[in-house]
Amino acid sequence: MLKSETIAIDGPSASGKSSLAKAVAKELGWIHADTGSLYRAVAYLLEQARMENAGEDSICRYLKDRRIAYAVQDGSTRVLLEGEDVTDCLRGENTGRTASRISQIPCVRGYLLDIQRDLGQKGGVVMDGRDIGTVILPHATLKVFLYADPLVRAFRRHRELTLKGIHADLEEVRKDLEERDRLDRSRQLAPLVQAPDAVVLDNSHLSIEDSVQWILQKLPA
Ligand code: DC
Repeated sequence: MLKSETIAIDGPSASGKSSLAKAVAKELGWIHADTGSLYRAVAYLLEQARMENAGEDSICRYLKDRRIAYAVQDGSTRVLLEGEDVTDCLRGENTGRTASRISQIPCVRGYLLDIQRDLGQKGGVVMDGRDIGTVILPHATLKVFLYADPLVRAFRRHRELTLKGIHADLEEVRKDLEERDRLDRSRQLAPLVQAPDAVVLDNSHLSIEDSVQWILQKLPA
């Protein structure tokens, strides 16, 4: 596989996109780019400034002078806010909810577009998100649309939170994912939707290793 090639993996929250994209990138010796972390970084930035509920215009004005960038470390992307690595501060449920909400704002999507495309253009990247196959990398070598049963996704997210020592109610987690899906699928701009030329992978009952092999077999020789 040439390094100028890319793989786009899109899918809903907790469908295992990032773990899978990371494992595929490792197998190929490519970079894994988690684009959700950029939206989370904007959410985090706004939360820190207590602006997460501000109007669209104020958010757009505020973002103009902020610097968000990707850095690559050990084959994965890290997110820098004003030069500071904030990747490990972005995984909270609240930040995820804010990210889903603010990702509907056109200037937020526009602001993050170039960062993602710049990295994609270098090639040798497995990028995961919601609009990678449709908007960010429309010419990706392979586009995968990930599906996982909603209850399986709720179990996965619940386990992830429990492992982090965060107490969560399974039914609450399920409802939260359902609401996030609704927002991500119904927004006007770059909604979560399968690209016409994407292949669907249902990983509800597959191990990461099996999913990686499935993807590698789909790559053009
Ligand atoms: O994948 P994640 O849960 O970290 O993403 C958080 C939110 O960011 C998600 O609910 C919607 C938004 N997002 C997006 O709109 N487009 C992407 N390519 C990635 C994430």
